[in-house]
Amino acid sequence: MAEALPPLSLYIHTPWCVRKCPYCDFNSHEPGAQGLPEEAYLAALLADLEHDLPLAAERPLQTIFIGGGTPSLLSPDFYQRLFQGIQQRLAFAPTIEITLEANPGTTEQQRFVGYREAGINRLSLGIQSFRPVQLEALGRIHSGQEALTAVGQARSAGFDNINIDLMHGLPQQTPEQAMEDIDQALALAPEHLSWYQLTLEPNTAFFSHPPPLPEEEALWDIQEAGHVRLERAGLQRYEISAYARLGSQSQHNLNYWRFGDYLGIGAGAHGKLTCIDENGQWQIERRWKTRQPQSYLRRLDDPRGFVAGKQPIEADELPLEFAMNALRLTEGASLKTWQAHTGQPVELLLDRLQIAHEKGLLVEMPEKLRASPQGLLFLNELLALISDE
Ligand SMILES: C[S@@+](CC[C@H](N)C(=O)[O-])C[C@H]1O[C@@H](n2cnc3c(N)ncnc32)[C@H](O)[C@@H]1O
Ligand code: SF4
Repeated sequence: MAEALPPLSLYIHTPWCVRKCPYCDFNSHEPGAQGLPEEAYLAALLADLEHDLPLAAERPLQTIFIGGGTPSLLSPDFYQRLFQGIQQRLAFAPTIEITLEANPGTTEQQRFVGYREAGINRLSLGIQSFRPVQLEALGRIHSGQEALTAVGQARSAGFDNINIDLMHGLPQQTPEQAMEDIDQALALAPEHLSWYQLTLEPNTAFFSHPPPLPEEEALWDIQEAGHVRLERAGLQRYEISAYARLGSQSQHNLNYWRFGDYLGIGAGAHGKLTCIDENGQWQIERRWKTRQPQSYLRRLDDPRGFVAGKQPIEADELPLEFAMNALRLTEGASLKTWQAHTGQPVELLLDRLQIAHEKGLLVEMPEKLRASPQGLLFLNELLALISDE
């Protein structure tokens, strides 16, 4: 049982993009002819937060992450006022990390200056690739040159904590081309790099009309060579797809993976909160908000608020939920933390850990739950073993 409530983060979703990318299953929509309803969305986000406020239990916010969609479509003034409104309701920890996802096709110098002035101190740029052929296949709205320019502008605006999102395993991509993308990204000296293998998600254009993807063997080669290249350049892998310089790990994502609490506001946003009743019993609840932007906005005048659904995580689901997060991290989790978060005695786990260890999927017995490189590659097998599913 958790002795005290876990740290609290806030996720804010912005559901609009200039153009929908054919591989993307995020809750993102092209805005109608009337443009973005900034004023209405600002009012809705703050009302949404107001409804969720009791769940914060007066904890200060350790991190805020504004994701999308394309949050950089909204103006610096919008964020200035949003943060003022949030701070009227919740305290910010002195070291708060505030990240904004930006698409290089939607930015310019003054915008970055405004974001920095509003209090955003971390930028996550969706670059994906620098090669024209691949950018076109991915339906991106920017060129490789625009991506380079965006990083330069962000630096000039004072951003000293930048993440670059890159994807690999792209249509017809060779291992050499994937390495060139990495080299171009590394030349920009980002503090953090998220390196995702392209997946074909249901309900996307790529799922219905799959593009020609690299063969399995080429995908393995890319994985292996890319990992070595990134680590050699001083970006340490701390999660399956996340690499960072020392001290520049995403605090927001770490809080997810360490099973912390988070409020989620905005269209389709998800939250996970620990609630303690008057008898000291705790339960973790997941809740999610109305997904369609227009339906979400209509909830502003609805006394029910913005929640579309909520569900407790049942006691027997906790081990898998916790392991699914902890094992993504190269640091893993201590068995003490396991017991605190799942309520399950460690003794029940030891036999299963031994088997996973013998199969080479776990390192460090017996005090840690930590995936080996092999375990990270075969995470589902490891999870099934540990959670006894
Ligand atoms: C919600 S997007 C935010 C960034 C911003 N909207 C943009 O695309 O520039 C987060 C990241 O998820 C990754 N991503 C999205 N769909 C993916 C897929 N099907 N496979 C792998 N990575 C994906 C991309 O790298 C993307 O930058
Ligand atoms: S810009 Fe980002 S969120 Fe929008 S459709 Fe493309 S990948 Fe998805």
